[in-house]
Amino acid sequence: MSELQTRKDQAIAAIDAADNLDALEALRVEALGKQGWISLLLKTLGQMSPEERQNQAPAIQAARGEVADAIAARKAALENAELERRLASETLDLSLPAPQAPRGSVHPVSQVMDELAEIFADLGFSVATGPEIEDDWHNFTALNMAETHPARAMHDTFYFPDRDAEKRQMLLRTHTSPVQIRSMVAQGAPIRIIAPGRVYRSDSDATHTPMFHQIEGLVIDRDIHLGHLKWTLETFLKAFFERDDIVLRLRPSYFPFTEPSVEVDVGWQAVNGRRVLGGDGDAPGHGWMELLGSGMVNRRVLEFAGLDPDEWQGFAFGVGVDRLAMLKYGMDDLRAFFDGDARWLAHYGFSAFDQPSISAGVGARA
Ligand code: PHE
Repeated sequence: MSELQTRKDQAIAAIDAADNLDALEALRVEALGKQGWISLLLKTLGQMSPEERQNQAPAIQAARGEVADAIAARKAALENAELERRLASETLDLSLPAPQAPRGSVHPVSQVMDELAEIFADLGFSVATGPEIEDDWHNFTALNMAETHPARAMHDTFYFPDRDAEKRQMLLRTHTSPVQIRSMVAQGAPIRIIAPGRVYRSDSDATHTPMFHQIEGLVIDRDIHLGHLKWTLETFLKAFFERDDIVLRLRPSYFPFTEPSVEVDVGWQAVNGRRVLGGDGDAPGHGWMELLGSGMVNRRVLEFAGLDPDEWQGFAFGVGVDRLAMLKYGMDDLRAFFDGDARWLAHYGFSAFDQPSISAGVGARA
């Protein structure tokens, strides 16, 4: 009897000390399994005399009950501890925002070109394009720059080494002005187009890159004069910079393809140490910034393009798109535009869902 007592006490002590479910299961098999010591003891009851059985059975049954209860209690305790451990380790904070999915953004140059197309579409301009690999005639000659013209030297042109099959000298266009010629030759007059695109010059520093972007404007019609040019530029710049206090200064200048030629400056004022467009450029603390070249289309250019200069007149302008983007959106190093740095784009890029529209104001929402 006391042997049973001792074994039972040892078994229950081991059960209470079991530190995982596998160990507990091993202890259960050892005591209560088919070959377990309590099961074997129970089997011995069958061979006993009725008196012996009456004597022994209650103690063995009781031991079985106590061991079974101890196992059940320990099992519940271990399972509970396991649940607590998992609850503590597997945290899922449903109040956290969803992780950011990677997304692209619209480059400031594309954004500004979209804004310009939107503004000029509203003024009745359509968008024209021309090749970036251009020939010497469209890029220079037809724009009144003969082969010996000194202005050619100022363009830092990338020339192709060999002439093409038609003996044309090919080059990377140095400005968007050849699209003027192509449009006049292709569609005649009247014309109202803008031509945005890439241009190339052998030049590189913080404000010059070998490739950059320009947008050309060309209007050809009857009785077009400088007043039309000034109004168009004023309307365009007010819409683009989204301010009504944009002031322009027209300065006499020289381009071979316009006569007269006009350099256009825009007034700025200092606000918190920064130059902000707007205000009277001549007042103290204000100033002028050179923005674009323009003028009345030279008669010679109209003739080169096959139009009668006594019937048709027009104006043209050319402006740097990258420079417009820098002025409007506050970047100061042009080279970063073309580095393809994802961090720069994430900072200065625009949402693809933010389509510029005149009715909403062409600028991008913050
Ligand atoms: N093509 C000139 C440039 O690149 C700009 C310009 C265009 C000037 C049209 C007058 C008229 O500097």
